[in-house]
Amino acid sequence: MDSNSPIGVFDSGLGGLTVLKELRRLLPHENFIFVGDSARAPYGSRTPEEIISFLQQFMDYFQSRGVKMAVCACNTMTSYGYPVIKDKTSFALVPMNPAIIPAVKASANKHIGVIATEATIKKGMHKQAASNLDPQIKVFGVGCPKFVPLIETGHIHDDAIDEAVQEYADKFKTSDIHSLILGCTHYPIISEVLTKHFGKDVALINPALETAKDAATILTKNNLLNTQEQSGSLELRFSAKQNNSEKMAEIILGSDIPPITDVDLTTFAK
Ligand code: DGL
Repeated sequence: MDSNSPIGVFDSGLGGLTVLKELRRLLPHENFIFVGDSARAPYGSRTPEEIISFLQQFMDYFQSRGVKMAVCACNTMTSYGYPVIKDKTSFALVPMNPAIIPAVKASANKHIGVIATEATIKKGMHKQAASNLDPQIKVFGVGCPKFVPLIETGHIHDDAIDEAVQEYADKFKTSDIHSLILGCTHYPIISEVLTKHFGKDVALINPALETAKDAATILTKNNLLNTQEQSGSLELRFSAKQNNSEKMAEIILGSDIPPITDVDLTTFAK
């Protein structure tokens, strides 16, 4: 495996850019290929079979691009597809870290909230990780199906997102949580609105940070860190480009972004 090969980063859509942002910050010399499957988002309302087959298509695409690692910047695919596919790739596949450790550090009573897609909540990946760490931790999970369609279409500061956040925040009223895991990679994009409704006493935990650290640890252990001195390159690909894709990518990643190009994952369907 060549240490100067690129790293694939993928999600159902824009959300994975929040993970890419942390990866680029931590690993500035790496070349990244980001792929968002916006044509088929949201994944959170799809069947387990669909989610697994889409993940397989991402793997075949990245295999064809000669990556040294792929980062699954999606909790839904991590919940359903990662356990099935993890030993079948020729490169390292990095799942989303559930970020229970920082969440419990931020919650004195060990009550942790999780907001995620319905599929992720149903699978219980955060509950499982918490009970493996410490059975005293109480996890309160709420599926938020309204968020991804709103965020994908650029509703990140308006009444529509405000009302949706209020609706889901109300479900935590009696849980006395002090930290809230953003268990879907789209949600850090609406951090401001989340803080407004959950209040300053609830720490928002973005698992992108832990996930980027996991990727860096694997590269270091396997002697796969890119040796180039200049900053790494970036390719951004979406299966369906929306009018606002460039603007949203700029909001998440900053102004220095390349033009967005197409990708057709369905050609990798078996
Ligand atoms: N951003 C993804 C996640 O972390 C999936 C969102 C979706 O497509 O429903 O779960």
